[in-house]
Amino acid sequence: MTPSPIIAPSILAADFARLADEVRAIEGAADWVHVDVMDNHFVPNLTIGLPVVQSLRKATEIPFDVHLMITDPERWAPGYAEAGAYNVTFHAEACEDPVHLAKTLRAAGAKAGLAIDRDTPVEPYLELLPYVDTVLIMTIKAGFGGQKFMPEMLDKVRDVRRRISAKDLDVRLEVDGGIAAGTIEQAAEAGADAFVAGTAVYGAADPAEAIRKLRALAEGVS
Ligand code: DX5
Ligand code: ZN
Repeated sequence: MTPSPIIAPSILAADFARLADEVRAIEGAADWVHVDVMDNHFVPNLTIGLPVVQSLRKATEIPFDVHLMITDPERWAPGYAEAGAYNVTFHAEACEDPVHLAKTLRAAGAKAGLAIDRDTPVEPYLELLPYVDTVLIMTIKAGFGGQKFMPEMLDKVRDVRRRISAKDLDVRLEVDGGIAAGTIEQAAEAGADAFVAGTAVYGAADPAEAIRKLRALAEGVS
């Protein structure tokens, strides 16, 4: 049975000058706060890093879902776990030994997530599922918010869901990119049970209400 859906608003679409307020605005509605860390190397964009996560961690009780779009995650990822992130996701394309890094993150007290970007096939990574807590399938090309959802990525979601079910694994299956009221149901139907939404939440007049709507849509898919 698929567990109840996780809705993880991405602060990439929030007002960076008011991050603490923006996170408090989704308290009681969001399950996780999705924090997109970009280094201008792995992706051609630069966002926020560890000092901001450390400060923001004190501003809210909502668990942090840190998405590292960076090179050399072996060097930087453990710091986010030590800063109190609930889940730390690194990219398969940037990591030489995902199982080793997942073990390091778990030892540092976090869940470990493996992200698969748009142009990366998922098959070679299916055997790693027993060693991670989260798999994040990009439904866009990583790097920028506000892109159009790519339904062709859902084949990867189906493949991962099939493997999770076949092996009865305790792994969250997350989708990231273009998730909104018009797309979340297809992602849920494909087997996703955690949903990142940036523009759809922080672009809405009432972010908490937008989360509740997304949740209702995801829950409506059985
Ligand atoms: C993009 C980030 C996403 C982004 C999603 O590389 O990983 O988390 O914030 O934004 P939307 O929901 O606007 O597509
Ligand atoms: Zn993300």
